[in-house]
Amino acid sequence: MKLRSSTTPFSVGLAALIVLVTGLFFWSSAVYAGDFPKPSYNDKGEMIRPDISYREWVYVGTPLTPNDLNPPEAPFPEFHNVYIHPDDFDHYKRTGKFPDGTVMIKELVLVGATAAVSGKGYFQGDFAGLEATVKDSQRFPDEPGHWAYFTFGHSYPLADSAAAFPAAACNACHEASAADDFVFTQYYPVLRAAKAAGSGRSMNQDNETFDKIASGMASAMGVIFQPTAKTAKVKSAVPTDQDKLFKYLKSGDYKKFEAQESGQHATAGPHTNIGWPVRVFLDPVLDGSLAAGNAEHPVGSSAVKEMYADNGDLQGWAVMIKTEKEGASGAGWFWYEVTSTTEGDDPVAIGNGVPLCFGCHFPGQDFVLTNYPLR
Ligand code: HEC
Ligand code: HEC
Repeated sequence: MKLRSSTTPFSVGLAALIVLVTGLFFWSSAVYAGDFPKPSYNDKGEMIRPDISYREWVYVGTPLTPNDLNPPEAPFPEFHNVYIHPDDFDHYKRTGKFPDGTVMIKELVLVGATAAVSGKGYFQGDFAGLEATVKDSQRFPDEPGHWAYFTFGHSYPLADSAAAFPAAACNACHEASAADDFVFTQYYPVLRAAKAAGSGRSMNQDNETFDKIASGMASAMGVIFQPTAKTAKVKSAVPTDQDKLFKYLKSGDYKKFEAQESGQHATAGPHTNIGWPVRVFLDPVLDGSLAAGNAEHPVGSSAVKEMYADNGDLQGWAVMIKTEKEGASGAGWFWYEVTSTTEGDDPVAIGNGVPLCFGCHFPGQDFVLTNYPLR
């Protein structure tokens, strides 16, 4: 609450009394309802950029993906300050569930200074972007989990309104990897502690549960491994036919590509375990297109990624091949992953528009995530 400055002792006294009384009122009743508006929508169904009073909501944490660890730049710039609407926090704390209507905001902030009197580090600089997610069964009956995702931009000025992203773009990654109902509570100790306090459990017990949920999630969600579009016939260095593709990989023909990483490096993705070694090979079409900085790669572009186990044994391949031009949905790419080197074993995924794959690859350069130029 803001007070106008005043010079008369009487109004100062009165103001102090008002502060005291309203303060007591809020303290004793702990009522927030109605204080903070929830986002509203325009007649096109787009979310209107939320009022900045979200900065006074409950703050749950700040994941940080600094550009210098994600060169040339992280898909979501740097600091992610995450807030939840106070009513939803209250409900989550009492029941351990995100209620219908839950709103969460992720405000992106750039790294400003990298040294302060306290030492070297990452310190918040300027606001850079805004994302929101809403769980709303009425408005988004068809979205998985009823969660819809919005972005108002990754640099200022921000957009005044935003349409919900297709589920595959944002929702699929949240569904596959977030620990609790599409929300990345594994990175928000404030939410984990609140849930634990509400259920009378210790936070460590809950951490174990979350780990289990997180690792079991991907396999339980069979549908995200299924293709969502047909594979068009295409001329490409790497074949799309299942048998031919496996034989091609096994033969190691892709090693003839000039564009290949100089050696193995730890994967930043789940191929097949975060941190295990991978090595990426690009066919000349994709290599040329990345070198040209194209926003969309030509049909026929192919990439092969070798995946190794911790002990250095080759244990499979991940492949993507562009088979069609497309809009934003990832269906123009053919995705394939096999975690075996034995002929006849089933691939993890095969076909166009596999949500698991393109949901995570969405922030890439037309879905390609590998650092370029190749390391
Ligand atoms: C590659 C997987 C991935 C994709 C794709 C993705 N996100 Fe997220 N999102 C995350 C992770 C991980 C976090 C938590 C840590 C962080 O912020 O880096 C997160 C957190 C969020 C949060 C904070 C609330 C929460 O659910 O934890 C919002 C809001 C959000 N993302 C919006 C979006 C929007 C909008 C898109 C699509 C443009 C999107 N996300 C696409 C991985 C993803
Ligand atoms: C959780 C995020 C995530 C998911 C899910 C994912 N990938 Fe990836 N993928 C990555 C990252 C990160 C890279 C960059 C290289 C690395 O660090 O492994 C990558 C690289 C690749 C590459 C090398 C070309 C490129 O885009 O850089 C291929 C091919 C690939 N992935 C295929 C797949 C397939 C097929 C699937 C689905 C079965 C899939 N990916 C699912 C994160 C993901």
